[in-house]
Amino acid sequence: MAKRTVRSPVTSPGSRRGPTPAARHRSQIVRAEPAQPVVELLPTRLTLSAVRAVSKGCKACDLYKRGTQTVFGEGPPRAEIMLVGEQPGDAEDLAGHPFVGPAGRLLDRALEEAGISRARVYVTNVVKHFKWEPRGKRRIHAKPNAGEIGACRPWLETEIALVRPRVLVCLGATAAQALLGRGFKVTQQRGTFVESSWAPLVSATVHPSSILRAPDDESRRDEMRAFVADLRRIGRRSASTRPE
Ligand code: URA
Repeated sequence: MAKRTVRSPVTSPGSRRGPTPAARHRSQIVRAEPAQPVVELLPTRLTLSAVRAVSKGCKACDLYKRGTQTVFGEGPPRAEIMLVGEQPGDAEDLAGHPFVGPAGRLLDRALEEAGISRARVYVTNVVKHFKWEPRGKRRIHAKPNAGEIGACRPWLETEIALVRPRVLVCLGATAAQALLGRGFKVTQQRGTFVESSWAPLVSATVHPSSILRAPDDESRRDEMRAFVADLRRIGRRSASTRPE
């Protein structure tokens, strides 16, 4: 589960007289704004609702300063299928719910076309705060870095451990590489099933936002068709292996 990282004291290499002034300054900054690892927030009795409640106060990385609120996963507590995206977008950040913006609407449509009922699906993200950069009046999605992904990881691991989905699907490269390793290539391995300890059936496909970013209508239609085909294959395999 979550590894707790302890910051080592910052000293100059080889110095016996303690930290340099610059190092002391850095460590004071760290002390003034301590990151609080997720493990310190987790309740003793782990339930999804208790974990969701404490996640609202997450300060495990600096993204809480930029986002409006923590956006935790949602869906049936014992959902058969878990979909893992990257991070909430602008609409999700304001609403406090995952996949409710344009990418979420496209995902809903694709699930329906693939014959997968949303009622069987738990949706969540690798990172629970919206990372954005200003562009004029707009907030533009920015990719989370390894530190932010690592800091947030215990939330996702706890969700997986509690929901125990039979099928776990990574949506896009950030989720796939966080859960399946940095060597995983969504473009080459999408729609296939991979050996993994996260769930009995584990797969990955593209992120619905990538379809929205397609350069023209024709490629958007093609990419949507391929996305639905991946989901349909996953849905069929899930149905065929469902316990009686
Ligand atoms: N993109 C994601 O990865 N997750 C959301 O919740 C919304 C957009």
